[in-house]
Amino acid sequence: MGRGLAEAFHKLGNQVIVAGRRKSLLEQVTAANPGMKAVELDIADPVSIQAAAERLIAENPTLNVLINNAGPNEHALVMGFNSYIAENPIPV
Ligand SMILES: NC(=O)c1ccc[n+]([C@@H]2O[C@H](COP(=O)([O-])OP(=O)(O)OC[C@H]3O[C@@H](n4cnc5c(N)ncnc54)[C@H](OP(=O)(O)O)[C@@H]3O)[C@@H](O)[C@H]2O)c1
Repeated sequence: MGRGLAEAFHKLGNQVIVAGRRKSLLEQVTAANPGMKAVELDIADPVSIQAAAERLIAENPTLNVLINNAGPNEHALVMGFNSYIAENPIPV
């Protein structure tokens, strides 16, 4: 969902910066979308958030929209649903 949103806004001419933990995936997405930027970020790690925020603000002072879309997407049959699946997206 995040990649879809990022590519849609990119195609409309916006400067888009995607974030995530997997550098290889970020490189794959930016290679497929020339002009798009990426930043490594783990939103479960306050140190990573602080570092990414400082870098983003310094390098992109006109940045004006943040979309918080990261999170695990767990698929489970109703009978296999458990508290981990229910609660894991919330801490992220
Ligand atoms: N798909 C649906 O139908 C649906 C419906 C309703 C709600 N949602 C919710 O919408 C969100 C996105 O769903 P999706 O289907 O697009 O999931 P997805 O394909 O698994 O993508 C999740 C994205 O979040 C990133 N991410 C996960 N943990 C992160 C962390 N700690 N720090 C930074 N980035 C992190 C992942 O990148 P890295 O692993 O590289 O960090 C990945 O790019 C989830 O919270 C999901 O529960 C999805």
